Amino acid sequence: MNNFYLYLPTKVYFGKDEENRTGEIAAAAGAKKILIVYGGGSVIKSGLLKRVEDSLEKAGIAYEEFGGAKPNPTLAHAEEGVKKAIAMEADLILAVGGGSAIDTAKAIAHGSANPGTPLWDIWTKKAELTKSLPVGAVLTIPAAGSDMSDSAVLTNEAIGKKAGINTEFNRCRFAVLNPALCMTLPKYQVFAGVTDIMMHTMERYFIKDIKCDLTDEIAEGLIRTVIKNARILMQKPDDYDAMAEILWANSLSHNNLTECGRGKDFSVHKLGHALSAKYDVTHGASLAAVWGSWARYQVDEGLDRFVRFAEKIWDIKGTDKKAVAAEGIEKTVAFFREIGMPGSLKELNVSPDEEDIRNLALDATMNDTVKLSRLLPLDAKAVEEIYRAALS
Ligand code: NZQ
Ligand code: ZN
Repeated sequence: MNNFYLYLPTKVYFGKDEENRTGEIAAAAGAKKILIVYGGGSVIKSGLLKRVEDSLEKAGIAYEEFGGAKPNPTLAHAEEGVKKAIAMEADLILAVGGGSAIDTAKAIAHGSANPGTPLWDIWTKKAELTKSLPVGAVLTIPAAGSDMSDSAVLTNEAIGKKAGINTEFNRCRFAVLNPALCMTLPKYQVFAGVTDIMMHTMERYFIKDIKCDLTDEIAEGLIRTVIKNARILMQKPDDYDAMAEILWANSLSHNNLTECGRGKDFSVHKLGHALSAKYDVTHGASLAAVWGSWARYQVDEGLDRFVRFAEKIWDIKGTDKKAVAAEGIEKTVAFFREIGMPGSLKELNVSPDEEDIRNLALDATMNDTVKLSRLLPLDAKAVEEIYRAALS
């Protein structure tokens, strides 16, 4: 087991009606003037925004609204939010929504605590981030895990680049998680979220073997729980307990718990972010579309990991390691299809030509300056092959 550092400062308030305590929770965090960040309007339609605002008023907290964070949220929109937060002298940024609202809120927190520093300079580490404002979240979709993660992702539309930053300043001060708030989600978003949750765990699992039994068992238990409860939600979309399991998995999959002693890779995410930057596709779906081809390319290098995955997740048994590993990969891709996710780029409804593939690979590898993956190191040419193999 490698050395590791884990600090999970987010206070989690989980369960029915907890959003009605947002005012009390934010007041305990010292908030007096809040900028509320939300997305395209689902929280208005559901009445959630009003309930959160009522609870802020009850707690004597002033607030203003900043809506319009879109899936794959943009730098330009976050910059607008920074101006607003500075003008109102916000002391806490509260996201009400999904990963896109939360990541926008995180960006606004960083930008407004550092007026004069361009947000993209912070994102690209040209400017060191030494302070930020506190961020809180009322989550409405189990997916990105931004409620407890140390990461935030924005798309810079001007240069067509989607990128994340990891910093402890990205940790939310508090997160309110009520599974009932997720019941209004479109089916596609639920299962794109399921894929993202699985992938956050798998991106930390498929790394050259390091003995880490407890971390492995936690990861495997998480993935099995997500698969089991996703199947329940396929049949019964309003099953509270199934949604609760998936919502909690959302947080644990990306708060670094499942990387303790091993670390993380996130190469599939790099491939997915390049796709989302170019085609604006849903994040979880972008990952499902390339994972199978990524795994088939890597399998020999990480054979023991893939065998263990096949045994522990899909209960596949056998003495032929390659066959067991391959069956585990195909069962995973079949599961993505079962929940309505794409198993290829064609099923994602994108059809990059050769030049597009070259550009996607260059984007994913920062112009071929970094090698992806902690199994087989992947340069731009290897990434091209993976995209090509994922075409259909
Ligand atoms: O915008 P609204 O109107 O709220 O609608 C959203 C959006 O259309 C809708 N939605 C969310 N909750 C709903 C709902 N509709 C009805 N009822 C509800 N309860 O669902 C759509 C997707 O929302 P979004 O916030 O985009 O989803 P998600 O949480 O998947 O976030 C995706 C973003 O997070 C990034 C992704 O790359 C993507 O940009 N990620 C952030 C991470 C992080 N910060 O740690 C890690 C992830 O790997 C990921 O990269
Ligand atoms: Zn993700």
